[in-house]
Order: sequence, then structure tokens, then C-alpha cells
Amino acid sequence: MKITSICCIGAGYVGGPTMAIIAQKCPDIKVTVVDLNIERIAAWNDPDVNNIPIYEPGLSDLVAEARGRNLFFSTEVDKAIDESQMIFISVNTPTKTYGLGKGMAADLKYIELCARQIASVAKDNKIVVEKSTLPVRTAEAIKNILDNTGNGVQFQILSNPEFLAEGTAVQDLQNPDRVLIGGNNSPEGMEAINALVEIYANWVAKENILTTNLWSSELSKLTANAFLAQRVSSINAMSELCEKTGADVNEVAKAIGMDSRIGSKFLKASVGFGGSCFQKDILNLVYIAKSYGLNEVADYWEQVVIMNDHQKRRFANNIVQTLYNTVADKKITFLGWAFKKDTNDTRESAAINVADYLLFEQANIAVFDPKVRKKQIIADLSYLNEIDVNDFKKNIDAFEDPYEACKNAHAIAIMTEWDEFKSYDWKRIYDAMQKPAFIFDGRNILDAEKIKAIGFIFSAVGSSN
Ligand code: NAD
Ligand code: UGA
Repeated sequence: MKITSICCIGAGYVGGPTMAIIAQKCPDIKVTVVDLNIERIAAWNDPDVNNIPIYEPGLSDLVAEARGRNLFFSTEVDKAIDESQMIFISVNTPTKTYGLGKGMAADLKYIELCARQIASVAKDNKIVVEKSTLPVRTAEAIKNILDNTGNGVQFQILSNPEFLAEGTAVQDLQNPDRVLIGGNNSPEGMEAINALVEIYANWVAKENILTTNLWSSELSKLTANAFLAQRVSSINAMSELCEKTGADVNEVAKAIGMDSRIGSKFLKASVGFGGSCFQKDILNLVYIAKSYGLNEVADYWEQVVIMNDHQKRRFANNIVQTLYNTVADKKITFLGWAFKKDTNDTRESAAINVADYLLFEQANIAVFDPKVRKKQIIADLSYLNEIDVNDFKKNIDAFEDPYEACKNAHAIAIMTEWDEFKSYDWKRIYDAMQKPAFIFDGRNILDAEKIKAIGFIFSAVGSSN
């Protein structure tokens, strides 16, 4: 079967970039990305491509090339479903905030709504592709809904999890380590798998397109994120031991990473991993394991999240202790608010938790992030545990200029590894700060010796000074 029209429900961090790539690489396929969020779709359609809603290096060029040719953004979900042979579901699957599994399980209400909408609209056979990250065996539920509420047409379900990382999404999509496609091994299932393989084969070598059964594909996605997050928690656990013993975590990471069995990636000690997926997906995995009575498996993986929470708390405590056990009324400047560099995404950023602890201690927080604006920062703080943001709005400010943000600060905390921070005039920053002036490098990006030579009291994650 040759696919000529596809749509994607969900124009977020995954739906937008993945469909932009498909549209660029497959000019013969009409790609429509739909979303309920009118503002988001309007931003994707903004004539100035610099205003698209997601910041990713290279993404605006892709959109400029394909938009209006074979890439379309729309709020007309029914129309797009009706006109497409293949429908990707790329909606959010956050951790449940209510009911059974609250705080652990994935909330599948958006997925179910999509399935019901597809079933009610479809008048001919469709291939439905799970792009969102889902609990293993979700395809079974989707299939049941489609078959029982549909108009008698045939649906094939595929699982095609996305492995892109934010900040490098375009590069990851252009050159994926692998593409994973899970499906049924019936003749119709195989036909659907092949249809999707042929789309990716326009730019991905066939040997890098892996096909599996549905459950392996769904579970591989959760497993990949669990393993990646586990490496960060493992090196962060060692960072605490390094701080006590005089070992340097960067040196330890380099030494172990040169063992080809371990490998050098994802061994960067930090204030903790953030992002919308690692914690959510591990908690989901823990919930699934528990639901099968696999308590040891669940406890093993839960420890990755426990360690991450500990690391964020420890970083904040270190700031308070170093500043003579009080940060009340002191100005502490955060350089960076996004959960990693080269993205404007702040979901689950470690900066949010550290700000929470410090505001609770009555600090004044000043933030500079190259891509995050004040409105977002305040919105992020409204989810917190320790404080009610309304009581603390006066204690938090965001700046357009990093030097202004750092002026008169008692301390700076580097929360995101933006490259530009490395090339700042640190002497100028130091001169404008309260003395003694402290820097807490949550991302290990600054040269310790140079910073200390200026006069700063310097503390990086995993270093003993
Ligand atoms: P997102 O919140 O940025 O985007 C989801 C979009 O879906 C939103 O714009 C929302 O309005 C829309 N939506 C929800 N229900 C809808 C409906 N019924 N009809 C139309 N639109 C609807 O989320 P995201 O970051 O793109 O993540 C989507 C999925 O991909 C999640 O399951 C996530 O775990 C997974 N994932 C994310 C990343 C990442 O880097 N962000 C990477 C790999 C996988
Ligand atoms: C992660 C995975 O890397 C992607 O493969 C996956 O598709 C995605 O989750 C997802 O499912 O959403 P992402 O969260 O965008 O991607 O970014 P990462 O590069 O994985 O970084 C996650 C967090 O870990 C960031 O806060 C980062 O600063 C932190 N990190 C990463 C470290 O602290 N140390 C490291 O060595 C690596």
C-alpha cells in the first residue's frame, strides 16, 4: 500500500518536528498536523517561521521549506482524520493527577479521546500509529475502542515510539540510531508495517528500521528512557560520594566511560534530570510492574526517581548551607530555566524544584534564560509543593539581560547548560555582585580554576571545593 496522505493528532514537541521531517523527506505525501489548541496551531502557521511554538535548532528552516507545500497545520481534526490513510497519535500522556494510579500511572484520557474520534469519523480503512509513549498493551485498548465504536471499517494499529531528544530533535530525526515499528504479524498487520517502513525508508537505511511485535515496541520505549535516566541517577549518586571524598565526578565519568562496555554518553553529573518524559515514563513503568505484582522490579526502577529528587534537594541545601545557613532576602540568580539547553521547554526542569526550596527559605530569585519568558516561569511555579506562588510573586523576577540578572546577587546557580553562559564576562559579573560571591554550577560547564581566580567561591556538582 502506498501512503499519500497522513495526519498527526497533537502538534507538540513530538508531533510538530516529526511531521515536519516526514513532509520534508517525502514531498509526495500530504502531511496534516492537527491540534485542539487554537493558539498553538496559529503559532505553527505564523508567517514568520521564527514564531513557531517550539524552539529547536533547525526546525524553523524545515517548516519554512515544507509548510504550505505538503505540510499543513490545522484545528480541523475530523477533516484531517477523514482524508488520511495513516493517523499518528502524538498527544500528551502525562502522569495521572487523580484517581487510581495518581502520581504514577500514565493518564490515557487524551489517547482514548483520539481513538473514539478516529472511530467515529473514519469511513474507510485506516492505519493508526501510536507515536506517544504508552504503557505496554495500550494498543489492545485502542483496538477495542476502534473496533467497537467504529463504522465497520478495518483498523490496523502500529506502535512507532519516538526517540528524539529535545534540543537535538531535528538532528535525531534526520539521523536516527533506529526507527522502531511494532505491529501484528497477520497479513494485514504486515502490510501496515511495510507501509510505514516505506515512509521512513525515504531517508533511513532499512537495516536501521527495526520491526517487532506491538508489545515489544511499546515496552522498548519505556525501557530506553528508564535506562537513560538510570545512568544520570547513577552518576549523580557518585557525585555525592565525590563531594565527600575529594574525587572529581568528571574525572570518574571519563575514566569509566572509556570502558567500551559502559560508554561515555549520559554520564554528566548534574542538578538532576528534568523534562516531560524521564520521570513520567519511569513512574509509569513502576506502576505497570506493581500492577503485575513485580514489587522488586518496581522498587528497583523507582530508586532512579528517588535519587533524582534527592539530587535536586541536595543542590538547594548546598546553596543554603554555603550561604551561612540563610538565604532569606538574599538575591540568588538562576542562569537557565529550561530543562536542558537548546529548548524552550521547562517541563519538570530541575530549576523549578530548586526555586521552590529556595523561595520557601525566603530567597529572592532572579532568572535569566535565553529562551524562557517570565510568564512561563510563574506558570511553572504554580505547581509547587513547598510554596503558594501567589505569596511569592514579588520574590521572583525574570530578566532579558544576564548581566542585569546577576547584578547585586549573593549567588548564581547555573541550572541549564546553555553554551552562551561559558563565554560571559565573568569578571564583570563578579564585580557587580555582593561579596563574597558564590557560583553553584549545576551543570559542570564552567572552568573551576578560572572562576576561582576571579574571586568567586565555586561549587560544582561532584567537586569537593
Ligand atoms: P505536547 O504536550 O507538547 O503535545 C501534545 C499535544 O497534543 C498538545 O498540543 C495538545 O493540545 C494535543 N492534544 C491532546 N489531546 C488532543 C486531542 N484529543 N486532539 C487534538 N490534539 C490533542 O507533548 P509532547 O512533548 O509532544 O509529547 C507527546 C507524546 O510523545 C508523549 O506521550 C511523550 O511521552 C512522547 N514523547 C515526547 C518526547 C519529547 O521530547 N517531548 C520524545 C519522545 C516521546
Ligand atoms: C529523553 C531521551 O533522551 C529521548 O531519547 C526520548 O525520546 C525523550 O526523553 C522522551 O521520551 O521524551 P529529553 O528528555 O528531551 O530526551 O532530553 P535528554 O537529553 O535525555 O535529557 C534529559 C535530562 O537529563 C535533561 O535535564 C538533561 O540535562 C539531563 N541529563 C542528560 C543529565 O543530567 N546528564 C546527562 O548525562 C544527560
